[in-house]
Amino acid sequence: MKVVPLKEEDLKYLSEKTDRYTFKELKNLSTKRFVRIFVLKEEKEILGYSLCWVFNEEAELHWIEIFPPHRGKGLGKLLLKETLNFLSGEGVKKVFLEVEENNQRAINLYRAFGFKENGRRKNYYPSGRDAILGVLNL
Ligand SMILES: CC(C)(COP(=O)(O)OP(=O)(O)OC[C@H]1O[C@@H](n2cnc3c(N)ncnc32)[C@H](O)[C@@H]1OP(=O)(O)O)[C@@H](O)C(=O)NCCC(=O)NCCS
Repeated sequence: MKVVPLKEEDLKYLSEKTDRYTFKELKNLSTKRFVRIFVLKEEKEILGYSLCWVFNEEAELHWIEIFPPHRGKGLGKLLLKETLNFLSGEGVKKVFLEVEENNQRAINLYRAFGFKENGRRKNYYPSGRDAILGVLNL
């Protein structure tokens, strides 16, 4: 099991696994200078991924996902830990994120890594729920 930067040859496979981005969107994102995509791999299989934006010493954890059959087994922790290591390795000092207020799993995960609540955005999601803003100093 390892976390590695996404390679071009894995783009299609990842787009088939995630409901969040199409192949075209992922391909487009992967060419952006400020975007980083990391995948959690077991052999050839991708079990989850994270997508971050990096702007010098600041980063946004834009999305992190472990695919459903693999959730609740500690893999989210592993992926987040390695994602933060990669970011730290390229000089990032502060990581921001947004999480839907009812996403208790993700909130617990972020808390366990020391993310602190840093405000809210009212009615941020199509559901009408708020976004909780989180920040972590690396
Ligand atoms: C959020 C997500 C990435 C966590 O990954 P995971 O592999 O399921 O999480 P882990 O097994 O590593 O658990 C990490 C922590 O999350 C929390 N957690 C895990 N399963 C949970 C559950 N069923 N209920 C509440 N908290 C839970 C716990 O704090 C856990 O730490 P602990 O085991 O020490 O108590 C995953 O559930 C997911 O992909 N969700 C859908 C996408 C998503 O919402 N992403 C976040 C966007 S902001």
